[in-house]
Amino acid sequence: MSPFVLTRTLPLDATAAALRADVSEGLTRSPKVLPPKWFYDARGSELFDDITLLPEYYPTRAEREILIARADDIAAATRARTLVELGSGSSDKTRHLIEALAGLECYVPVDVSESALRGAAATLLAEHPALTVHALVADFQYGLALPADLPGPRLVAFLGGTIGNLLPPERATFLAGLRSRLSPGDALLLGTDLVKDPSVLVPAYDDAAGVTAAFNKNVLSVINRELGADFDPDDFDHVALWDARREWIEMRLRARVPVVAKIPALDLAAHFEAGEELRTEVSAKFRHEGVRRELAAAGLELTHWWTDAQGRFALSLSVPSPHPFHAG
Ligand code: SAH
Ligand code: AVI
Repeated sequence: MSPFVLTRTLPLDATAAALRADVSEGLTRSPKVLPPKWFYDARGSELFDDITLLPEYYPTRAEREILIARADDIAAATRARTLVELGSGSSDKTRHLIEALAGLECYVPVDVSESALRGAAATLLAEHPALTVHALVADFQYGLALPADLPGPRLVAFLGGTIGNLLPPERATFLAGLRSRLSPGDALLLGTDLVKDPSVLVPAYDDAAGVTAAFNKNVLSVINRELGADFDPDDFDHVALWDARREWIEMRLRARVPVVAKIPALDLAAHFEAGEELRTEVSAKFRHEGVRRELAAAGLELTHWWTDAQGRFALSLSVPSPHPFHAG
């Protein structure tokens, strides 16, 4: 078998239809809202990688610290022969796991960004020529279809805190769907950013160099290119705020002036009053007990909880509970 296969389980026309549906629904309701997955065209994936290098954006460094410290423990606990990674992006931190998993045969990165998958696979295969990489262009939230013949035990990694970009009901549906795909012996490795002081959280999403602002505004460029719209990103300010009640960071784009943007592919004009905001992302922050509870509700039992030395970020390992439908 070729060491690299890329499968598109997300047909291009379905992606285009989903973008049209999200934009027409999200920009005509009040308050306006878009799902964060539309940030990640090739430029958006590059901008995210730039974010991970910013001094203010601690989650990537904190998670890497845990992975380096715990990769051998994870390997011993899982003995995985297949590593599936959801929202894998550049797969840069994943190399610590791949190096520790002595029996690993197959790596299955899953992402909506084909450019990120191709870049990651090229780098990994140069380092691990014996590894089979089966990349999937897929939406991990909807009908994730994994290849049938993946050797077990399988470890599913969902790193970076990306689970926090799902709303609580979406997280519950996502985790239950994931649980239903796991067999006894499989495991989930989940990265969750932790609740902390807003004086640390807010700058991580509103950096001095303006990289996160460019990432946020990139969704307008995606809509312009894909739907022929005429948004001027300079008409919008980047906003990051901490919602203390819901314990999440919210990113928004706030119109500086009244905006009427034509979206020809939808035969629609999007109207913003000056000051009106579009929510583009939530990034939930977690506590140990909340993670344990959400996993248990989906039929997953938390077996390990590791944090970085400063307690900023957590990696947890969980396994299918014996009685998934009676889990609390
Ligand atoms: N795991 C990496 C990248 C995190 S960025 C890290 O920890 O650094 C989030 C990644 O998830 C991006 O690569 C983005 O393209 C992908 N992504 C976002 N929403 C997705 C979805 N619904 N389905 C699949 N991939 C998604
Ligand atoms: C991918 N995800 C976990 C990032 C986060 O921190 O919520 C996306 C991001 N948004 C702004 N900066 C980074």
